[in-house]
Amino acid sequence: MQNLEDIVGRALREFEAAPDPASLENAKARYLGKAGELTALLKGLGALAPEERKLAGASINVAKAGLENALEACRSGLADAKMNLRLAEEALDVTLPGRGRTPGGIHPVTRTWQRIEEIFRSIGFDVADGPEIETDWYNFTALNNPENHPARSMQDTFYVDAKDSSGLPLLLRTHTSPMQVRYARTHKPPIKVIAPGRTYRVDSDATHSPMFHQVEGLWIDEHISFADLKGVYTDFLHRFFETEDLLVRFRPSYFPFTEPSAEIDMQFADGPFKGRWLEISGSGQVHPSVVRNFGLDPERYIGFAFGSGLERLTMLRYGIDDLRLFFDGDLRFLKQF
Ligand code: PHE
Repeated sequence: MQNLEDIVGRALREFEAAPDPASLENAKARYLGKAGELTALLKGLGALAPEERKLAGASINVAKAGLENALEACRSGLADAKMNLRLAEEALDVTLPGRGRTPGGIHPVTRTWQRIEEIFRSIGFDVADGPEIETDWYNFTALNNPENHPARSMQDTFYVDAKDSSGLPLLLRTHTSPMQVRYARTHKPPIKVIAPGRTYRVDSDATHSPMFHQVEGLWIDEHISFADLKGVYTDFLHRFFETEDLLVRFRPSYFPFTEPSAEIDMQFADGPFKGRWLEISGSGQVHPSVVRNFGLDPERYIGFAFGSGLERLTMLRYGIDDLRLFFDGDLRFLKQF
């Protein structure tokens, strides 16, 4: 059976040389498949004499079993090689040290916000929160800022393309003062609240940003005077800047919703801002028309309000000279706090 040995020899060499499972299965088909060479030998047995047929049949079957074993061995050899390659590629050195995670930090303006809440809470102020998309009525009209009044142009704003239920335009609040009205209309006197939050104006340079933060303060009762404003605010500044070594002055000013109105300025005895009057906050006695819009009798209830910029307070506390640093997200800046 010269032919059989030759076939087996070639088949074994081709099985072993197959570089991947597909080539191996093709090689199998060439010898053991329906049209394979070994299958052809089996089919040819019928043409032989019975004696010869028996002998030839036996040796072909032995050869066939041998090839099937070899095929199986090659199959698992290829599968093992594939797995080993994958293991090597995806190798993971579990002994390497971890990359670590830098702890996050609190934004300097948020720090100021938190300090302010802490200080005012400690003297009995409530903390309130309200909408940044405000109605024209709360932002202006209720604050004694009638429609078409020129005082509205003190604060240029972003109008939203939608109206409130009474058809009035909606806008991004230009200050936290609408919170005076929202809070006072839903609480009974004595009203003692601060409302920190985001505010918006059409303004953008080194000292103005279109989005900024304010904190509103409001204290209304039967006998809250300008002297209370001076006491509360001066005490707040001492605690916020952690020094009594600063001057505070109340400079006459104008706001439609306070009468009298004052700008609060301060001066440090030391440090980078030493000797300069710095504007910190608007303030004043709440105007009687506004007290009426609170739903209260202005003959009976009186008090003060203030609105201070959080970025401004933060810049003074940390000696920062450009407001835009707060909003750039630059880690070299933010990591310093
Ligand atoms: N809302 C005023 C502003 O943004 C500040 C202010 C608040 C003034 C309360 C007086 C009383 O300029």
